Amino acid sequence: MPGAFEGETVTRRALMNIWANGVGGVAAAAFTLPALGFAIAPIFKRQPWSWQPIGPPADFPSTTYQTKVITTSPGIGEAGNTIAYVRARNPAIDKEPEDQYNQFVALSSRCMHLGCPVRFVAAAERFICPCHGGVYDFRGMVAGGPPVRPLDRFYTRVNNGLVEIGPRYSVNNELQRFSPRFPGEPIDGIGQYLYPAQFDTAQKP
Ligand code: FES
Repeated sequence: MPGAFEGETVTRRALMNIWANGVGGVAAAAFTLPALGFAIAPIFKRQPWSWQPIGPPADFPSTTYQTKVITTSPGIGEAGNTIAYVRARNPAIDKEPEDQYNQFVALSSRCMHLGCPVRFVAAAERFICPCHGGVYDFRGMVAGGPPVRPLDRFYTRVNNGLVEIGPRYSVNNELQRFSPRFPGEPIDGIGQYLYPAQFDTAQKP
């Protein structure tokens, strides 16, 4: 090695450089790793959820929706609330497989185009999005406009004589359940692989 004495593999200057760079690297890591950890950790933290009672079953007919405010992100006040449209299951139109979690249909008000809040128009039996004209039918299926999939849903159950709402899930055009996706992410066909579930997805009931 140039500048090194006979038999040496590294010069004193090179050794000092390595040492100084090493110390610098450790010092930089001591500052950046905790900040990085704080920034990234929430991505892997599962969203907490709980069953939220919204009223007795008699409050929810199968012919129209009741509007309920529920909390999806606890601890942040009103910003953590959202609206769910809830009705009783109607076997005449709800053909997806029946189980203990869909005796009541609870639709998310979040448009599956870009996330604007949709509004249920009872006279038309449609959900209308004011942002770009998205329209959903009575079951929350896309009836027109740019939304890429049906409205998300919430698990529901009856417990102690009350209807309760659980975590949100997404559905494809066959109303098969998927873990929640963001608006704008189709999950039919290859879409379910192109837009995989988020790390922070809440556990199923
Ligand atoms: S956000 Fe609803 S149609 Fe665009």
